[in-house]
Amino acid sequence: MSLRAVVTGCGHYLPARVVENAEFEKTLDTDDAWIRARSGIERRHFAAEGETTSQMATAAARAALAHAGVDASDVDAIVLATSTPDLTFPSAATMVQAELGMEGGFAFDVQAVCAGFVYALSNANALILSGQAKRVLVIGAETFSRIMDWTDRGTCVLFGDGAGALLLEAQTGDQTSADRGILATDLNSDGRYRDLLYVDGGVSTGTTGYLRMQGNQVFRHAVEKLASTATTAMERAGVTGEDIDWVVPHQANIRIIQGTAKKLNLPMDRVVVTVQDHGNTSAASIPLALSVGQARGQIKKGDLIVTEAIGGGLAWGAVVLRW
Ligand code: UT7
Repeated sequence: MSLRAVVTGCGHYLPARVVENAEFEKTLDTDDAWIRARSGIERRHFAAEGETTSQMATAAARAALAHAGVDASDVDAIVLATSTPDLTFPSAATMVQAELGMEGGFAFDVQAVCAGFVYALSNANALILSGQAKRVLVIGAETFSRIMDWTDRGTCVLFGDGAGALLLEAQTGDQTSADRGILATDLNSDGRYRDLLYVDGGVSTGTTGYLRMQGNQVFRHAVEKLASTATTAMERAGVTGEDIDWVVPHQANIRIIQGTAKKLNLPMDRVVVTVQDHGNTSAASIPLALSVGQARGQIKKGDLIVTEAIGGGLAWGAVVLRW
């Protein structure tokens, strides 16, 4: 018997404003058909004026706690994946901690861009397995609408805002792949590719900056690296593609999602897809897809899931867990 980090609650929050592809036709040389065909995106949510990452993260965290039936005062740690925190510091996670009324525990942000949620899950898992925390809120939350260059059609049509959260709790398992909880993780980065996807602002420029991306270059790395990290995580978990009930990929582009599933030899009816409704919400996309997948009745208790993501850095990784 040993410890496992088991998902006992999940929830999400999407801002009220929905923007359809057609809206970009008014200001940019683009159209709904191109955006759908090249990315699979049909619409996305944008935060309201003044609505922040920490507010959306708090709403998602509250939904996950309610789903689990756990009070915030019983949470030991918050790990929040974001590249769009409200301020340079303090962390958005500490803002969520205060909003939830927590007076104990610890909270910090993880910044690995679109791979952020996979990194956060892996960190939370390590906190639980090492006995440093029993209950950890793992959140992905982003307001990428704040870092869009609205004149750059190659990026601004692709991203959206939102938040998703999981509550992980320490439970004992048999140390087999039949256990519920996180079974294996795999993290990677390669900073030589940092110029393919970055924000041209920050402390060194004194500006917030805008997202810049060589989309087709990132695309070239994506399928191969995602299939490879998912395969590594599955091997570490002692499972094969045939055992997998659901692939829950980072939702950047339907063609990347389809290409990766094909490489993993998994049919699309075992892939949770939300990119059409959310666009690319960076670190929020996987917890949003997990929460929506459960609400749709796709993901059920006991299902074996592989999640995978890649983004700026480049940073990429995968987690295998039993729901
Ligand atoms: O989540 C973090 C990781 N990010 C990703 O995974 C994103 C990866 N990349 C992608 O999803 C795709 O590369 C894009 C959706 C960004 C672009 O698709 P693509 O098939 O790679 O197109 P492309 O960048 O090679 O551009 C093809 C053409 C270009 O025109 P020319 O140079 O061939 O004349 C672009 O200027 O499409 C043009 N284009 C557009 N046309 C209409 C670029 N954006 C648009 C647009 N509307 N919004």
